[in-house]
Amino acid sequence: MPVCAARYFLQWAAMERQHETTLRFFAQPIEQNSLGKVHGGAVMKWIDEAGAAVAIGWSGRICVTVYVGGIRFVKPISIGSLIEVHARLIYTGRTSMHVAVDVRASDPRDGNYAQTTHCIIGYVAIDDAGQPIEVPKWAPKTPEDLALQQHAMSALTLSKDIEAEMRRYMRD
Ligand SMILES: CC(C)(COP(=O)(O)OP(=O)(O)OC[C@H]1O[C@@H](n2cnc3c(N)ncnc32)[C@H](O)[C@@H]1OP(=O)(O)O)[C@@H](O)C(=O)NCCC(=O)NCCS
Repeated sequence: MPVCAARYFLQWAAMERQHETTLRFFAQPIEQNSLGKVHGGAVMKWIDEAGAAVAIGWSGRICVTVYVGGIRFVKPISIGSLIEVHARLIYTGRTSMHVAVDVRASDPRDGNYAQTTHCIIGYVAIDDAGQPIEVPKWAPKTPEDLALQQHAMSALTLSKDIEAEMRRYMRD
């Protein structure tokens, strides 16, 4: 299970089921790339951990990442920044859960956060045999929820189109 690092501080929303979370921590020197900023792979790991926490919290199941969609690195992140990773469930299929994740960074001395990365990431709940298993339905409540659900459905369609295209060139 990808969610394991004790340094993460999870704040669960007070809901019947956990559908969003925010992780906060400092960007560590070990995450530095050759340009002295946070490595993109480290940011993707944070995103996967926050998204997995939401998918597992929602479904109460072991979940695996099925796709990452529309990831955009808007700004580089300095080592020592205070990081906030906000993940929010925006769409459920039969066995899949789609989570919007926003990464923001601030200088801890002023606390002014700026968005650095956005993406949608999808998980599938699996049973003990590793087979996809049904998840509880997420029902959008607000106009913003509905817009985000539409956003997830568009990203899902794109992801499946990309997979179909890639299959032409993938080795068995
Ligand atoms: C994810 C996995 C369980 C799906 O198994 P599968 O037999 O291919 O699944 P299915 O075709 O039944 O699809 C399962 C769900 O994935 C979704 N899915 C499949 N391909 C997808 C794609 N390219 N993009 C987005 N979602 C996709 C389907 O829509 C379906 O969701 P739904 O039930 O809500 O409609 C399997 O591919 C797997 O184990 N992959 C490896 C996962 C992994 O190792 N992740 C990294 C570490 S956590």
